[in-house]
This record gives sequence, structure tokens and C-alpha cells, in this order.
Amino acid sequence: MITERVCIDEENIDERVMTRAGDIIKSGGLVAFPTETVYGLGGDALRADSSKKIYAAKGRPSDNPLIVHIADISDLERIADGIPVSAKKLMKAFWPGPLTLIFKKKSTVPDETTGGLDTVAVRMPSSKTALSFIRASGGFIAAPSANRSGRPSPTTADRVMEDMDGMIEMVIDGGMATIGLESTIVDVTGDTPMILRPGFITDEMIKQVLGKVDYDPAVFSGPVPGMRPRAPGMKYRHYAPRGELTIVSGEEKDRTAYILERLSEHKEKGIRSGVMVSSDAGSLPEYEKNADLVIKIGDKDRDEDIARNLYEALREFDDKDIGKIYCAELPSKGIGTAIMNRLVKAAGHRIIKV
Ligand code: TXA
Ligand code: MG
Repeated sequence: MITERVCIDEENIDERVMTRAGDIIKSGGLVAFPTETVYGLGGDALRADSSKKIYAAKGRPSDNPLIVHIADISDLERIADGIPVSAKKLMKAFWPGPLTLIFKKKSTVPDETTGGLDTVAVRMPSSKTALSFIRASGGFIAAPSANRSGRPSPTTADRVMEDMDGMIEMVIDGGMATIGLESTIVDVTGDTPMILRPGFITDEMIKQVLGKVDYDPAVFSGPVPGMRPRAPGMKYRHYAPRGELTIVSGEEKDRTAYILERLSEHKEKGIRSGVMVSSDAGSLPEYEKNADLVIKIGDKDRDEDIARNLYEALREFDDKDIGKIYCAELPSKGIGTAIMNRLVKAAGHRIIKV
């Protein structure tokens, strides 16, 4: 299959391109498209055969359900069986935007889309290109992140092509994603709303709207044998570069000493090594002298920049064949909770305390 790549200007959307993309979806094909969080791999959410194709293209286990993207709130009642008051409040505050809600599902949504669950994850993105594409496609787009399963999510069309070229009909290139991390997922089917995956919409922001919110314990623990995380995707190794990523926590001078020691060991053995570091770190010059690749992901207190750059940085280490990657622990407040959540998974829970 030849994958067609088209560029879209978000401020001046070419509706003919959207109609073509929509026709691909309506005939059961797949189109990758930009959203404000990361690129999605879209298919018709109401067709079992389309969802099966998504799992095949991603190489993803079919018990890991897909998020259904809508463009109009009025479409929600076609797929969700009951809309709790807490959900209505969150939708009013954060839709369109980087928030996914879990509802009881209606039978319109095939089991293939929800991985056999009786619930459905729904999100209304804010990206104008995404909204236009969803409308042109009939209104219900199932879309996981457009990466091969386990890899860092793509924040540019180039990265989508890297993973999906030849496997899907079209990629819509809308430039770099503005947020860079996947949506916050909140389960509103129980008594207390529960965060299943942290994201740009923080626990504080949700508390301001609802008064309370819990975290699924699986968000912070590693995979616990016998315990089933409420978002099935959380149990898989994720977001990972091919090189071995280690997070180093402790006082700055101890961290630097530890990382520099490792860099020199690797050099002796001929292993290519890299460091991911905040742009304003005092140890930057030392790292630049000793590592094969140093990537600055943004100033320490600019967590929005770090979020936007994180996945691209992880993929750049692979581009340069880096075998061992080090990163200092980052502050985990606000969006930092989501950043650390992804980083810890990318590191396969390899955290060294010095
Ligand atoms: O920002 C995003 O959410 C991006 C863009 C493309 O919208 N999408 C995305 O999809 O991150 P994906 O498939 O990579 O992650 C979906 C997560 C998985 O962890 C999955 O287990 C969880 O959502 N999920 C989906 N449906 C669920 C359900 N019914 N109950 C619990 N978790 C669900
Ligand atoms: Mg994903």
C-alpha cells in the first residue's frame, strides 16, 4: 500500500482533502491525523473491521481498547449509555481538549473498538484539523496514538511515517503537536471520578471542577501481578526508546557524579551513551563533553516545553543509535505528573536513587 501524505494549514483547512480523508474512513481504511496531544491513527469507530485494522497496523494487543473521538457533544449519546453529572461538568470545563472520559457503552460501539469492555473511552479534541476530519468521516473516529505499539507516541507527521508508511492509506500533516503528551483519562462510571492516565489536564484542575478525584493506583505502581489496571493500556511497556533509559533521582551533584561515571564506563566499552537534561542544568557542559548525544528538553520550570519535546527526544536517541540513556528525575507536580508517568514507563521502571 502507498501511504499518501497531505499537508493541512489549520487556519485555512482544505475541505477537499478532508472529504477525501473522510471517504477513506467510510470505506473502512485508516488515516493518521494531528490532534493537540499526539497524532492519532484513525478508523471508523463503529466498524469492527476498521478497529481490527488499527490493531494490526499498530501491532497492538486487541484487549487494549481504543479512544473514540467525536466532534460534536450531541453525538455522545449515540455511543454512551448515560452521562453522569460529573462528566457533564468536566465536558463543560475541558471539551474540546485533552481529556478522555470513560462511559458505559451502547451496543452501537463494537466490542472490537473497546477491547471487549462494556465501557467506551470518548474524547473531543480541540485541534481544528482533527474536528474537521472527524466530521468528514461520519463523526466517530477510533484512534490510538499513531505509533507502533510500545514506541514513543508521534508528535509530528515524519514520526508517523517512520512507523506507519505503507500500512495505512493517508497521513494528514498538521505540523508539530502543541501539547505532546496523550490526554488525561478519567473514569466517571464509579462514585468517585478516577484518573486512569495523567495528562495536561491535571488533578488540581479536575478537583477545582468536581471537588474530588482519585488516581487508579496502577498509575504510580509498576505492573502488579494479578492486579488489573482499569486502563488496560497501562499494563504494557510503553513510550520506550530502543536504548536503555535510566532515571536518576537524588541531589543534583550526586546525580551528575553518577551519570558522569556511567558515561565514562560506557565510553571505555564502546557503548554510545546519551543524556536528556533540562536546558538550564548546571551540569550541561560536563555532559556535553562526555556523552555522544545530549538533548535539552526545556527549562526545569517550563513543564509545557518539556511535555512537548519529550517523545521527540526519546526518538532522537534512537536516530543516533544511543545504547544507554540517562535522565534526571523531573519535578512531578502539575503536568509534571504526566511527564514522569511517561518517563518511568519509557524507562521500564528503571530508577536509580543516588
Ligand atoms: O491524546 C490521546 O488520548 C491520543 C490522541 C490520538 O487522541 N490517543 C491515545 O490513545 O493516547 P491510546 O490508544 O494510545 O491510549 C488509550 C488509552 C489506553 O491506555 C487504553 O487502555 C485506555 O486509553 N482506554 C481506552 N478505552 C478504555 C476503557 N473503556 N476503559 C479504560 N481505559 C480505556
Ligand atoms: Mg498510545
